[in-house]
Amino acid sequence: MSNRLEDILKEAREQLREAGDLSEIEDLRVRLLGKKSRLSQILRSMGNLSPEERKAVGKESNAARAEIENLLAERLRVLKEAHKEFRFKAERIDVTEPGNQRGLGTLHLISLTIEEISKIFMNMGYRVTEGPEVETVFHNFDALNADKNHPSRDLSDTFYITDDVLLRTQTSPVQARILKKEKPPIKIISAGRCFRCDTPDATHSPMFHQVEGLLVDEGVSMADLKGTLDSFAKQIFGLETKTKFRPHYFPFTEPSAEMDVSCFKCGGKGCRVCKGSGWIEILGCGMVHPNVLKVGGLDTEKYTGFAFGMGVERIAMLKYEVDDIRLFYENDMRFIEQFK
Ligand code: DAH
Repeated sequence: MSNRLEDILKEAREQLREAGDLSEIEDLRVRLLGKKSRLSQILRSMGNLSPEERKAVGKESNAARAEIENLLAERLRVLKEAHKEFRFKAERIDVTEPGNQRGLGTLHLISLTIEEISKIFMNMGYRVTEGPEVETVFHNFDALNADKNHPSRDLSDTFYITDDVLLRTQTSPVQARILKKEKPPIKIISAGRCFRCDTPDATHSPMFHQVEGLLVDEGVSMADLKGTLDSFAKQIFGLETKTKFRPHYFPFTEPSAEMDVSCFKCGGKGCRVCKGSGWIEILGCGMVHPNVLKVGGLDTEKYTGFAFGMGVERIAMLKYEVDDIRLFYENDMRFIEQFK
């Protein structure tokens, strides 16, 4: 083979060895085999040769061309193979790898506790109702027989919006609204937010939740109140729970009481949860004051009733041993996720 062809082939081998992608190979194809290539020039100049020389050069040129084509095809194959392998590696899926965890939402402990309390009373035939968080002074205080000078009316205790409108300080105004609207037998509970001007600490929050209950009918007595609330206490804190009623004062009930439950943690021996006393106060209650029944225009000789109110946070804190009320509102997932 002539030196020129040897040269061309040597150069082709070197350049192709270095060609790194498909476009470089296409460029080389044009440069090595195209019209302006050295090989084409040799073929074009063959007219000047003798017939024997032409035959020999023609044969060698064709062989060189065939070899270059092979080299191009081979390089192309190698590059495509490498590309395929690269993609296989890059796109490899490990089917044994664990999937991404989807966080499943749950009810907040406050909602769970309201649900738990509501279910117990619904099973006893109570209907669930609602009242507004922005309430009138009339429903929150006057209709509930609160003295004009009652300390809870104070600006430092209650969030007033105007002289006549406030953020309810308790769920008890629902009683007044129901009494105005409905006739006995009345048997309702109502849960929701309440607001008081308290500085937040481990046991106080300016926003908190209560559940209110009201039952009015003919011949309702204190024994009905005690039986109902004793049954509630056993259902929420355990069947061995004992209850006791201590006299207390609320403007809207007469007589009024607070109910204590025997400590569900120590059974009454005394521990951290019950602060050594064996008993825990969980709600306020009493026989509905005749002045409140009169808001509904009821004949107080014929109808009597009982009412009760409890703090949802307090019940949840006792039951689940949460020692700081602020945990309910901080939305720290490590707290929230514990209750499902
Ligand atoms: N509203 C009272 C409070 O916030 C709780 C309460 C006590 C509600 C006695 C009642 C009741 O319905 O009869 O402390």
